[in-house]
Amino acid sequence: MTTDDPLKPNSPGKPLDPNLRKEFGRRLKPKNPRARSASDDEDMVVKTKKNSGYPDTSLLCDLRGNNELKKEIDDIYLQMANRDLYCLGGIQPDKSYLFYGPAGTGKTLGVRCLYGELLSHKKSFGLMEYSIGNYGTAYINMGSKNLQEFFDSGQSAIEKGVEGMIYFFDECDVLLGKRGSAQGHKEDDKLLDTLMTNLQEIHDRDTSEFVFFATNFRDAMDNASMRAQRIDKQVEFKLPDYNGRADLFKHAILMTQVKAGRSVVRAYNLNELAEKSDGLNCAECVDLVRRAIKSRINTMLHSGDDVFKDFFVKQYHILDELEILKKTKIKEKKIGFK
Ligand SMILES: Nc1ncnc2c1ncn2[C@@H]1O[C@H](COP(=O)(O)OP(=O)(O)O)[C@@H](O)[C@H]1O
Ligand SMILES: [Mg+2]
Repeated sequence: MTTDDPLKPNSPGKPLDPNLRKEFGRRLKPKNPRARSASDDEDMVVKTKKNSGYPDTSLLCDLRGNNELKKEIDDIYLQMANRDLYCLGGIQPDKSYLFYGPAGTGKTLGVRCLYGELLSHKKSFGLMEYSIGNYGTAYINMGSKNLQEFFDSGQSAIEKGVEGMIYFFDECDVLLGKRGSAQGHKEDDKLLDTLMTNLQEIHDRDTSEFVFFATNFRDAMDNASMRAQRIDKQVEFKLPDYNGRADLFKHAILMTQVKAGRSVVRAYNLNELAEKSDGLNCAECVDLVRRAIKSRINTMLHSGDDVFKDFFVKQYHILDELEILKKTKIKEKKIGFK
């Protein structure tokens, strides 16, 4: 995989292939960074996580590691971006989605990428995010009134001219796992009623409003009727297989090279990385490259080496980090952390 790899490490100082820059320039510089977004509406209660660590420019090409999944997400994008065409055919596109699967497989990123891709194609969509995990019990106490306000502000943005709206319920099992269960109480049921009613209204409305739910614990969502009746499409996010991991490593290295503007990672072998990283999730694969670079910089700083002189990371640096990560994972398993 290394020989005809377009990312074949360059010699020190050699600039990156201009085609690479062209391809990934799109990723770094959205075509229309000033596309009107929900956050442009001052009076809107937009709960987009500003410091979530996701660049606003995440695009569909950033979601890696599973071709089947990519097709499904592309299909969702087409429905969101071309609702008018579906209406011409006398139908509404799917409007509510459940992304489920293990942690670190790109569910949150998937929603971000859809949003980023829409903006980059000059679609003035807004993203309103309820990160229930972060809100914890405070969210529950906010009550159905606030949930209603959340949906209302999305609708009012549409009335004011925003083309479409994404409502995102990350870690939704916190909300959807309770109804009718022994722990459930009246306030939870009221919340769910509000949610169901709004979902139904969004389905019935002739607008580009889309609702996304994401969970690591689909089984904890015991509300089967909610899933069957109100979610149009469920998408499974899986742990990456061999090819998926190779793709993730390749993308992580590529992005690093493009951001650094030079070949930071050299003489790497994607096959070996994919082979030895069985069991890692997508986030861990991507993060491994960052860890290797970070630890190399730390080592150089400690030893007083000039980081600027000739800094690079090689295959064995990444493999070292992989071993450390594996050991940490085994330890976490032993103490029941994972
Ligand atoms: N499929 C993927 N493709 C590319 N990067 C990924 C993927 N999945 C996870 N990542 C990386 O891991 C980070 C965390 O992933 P996230 O979307 O929060 O996972 P999840 O929501 O499934 O727990 C992302 O910001 C991204 O850097
Ligand atoms: Mg997530």
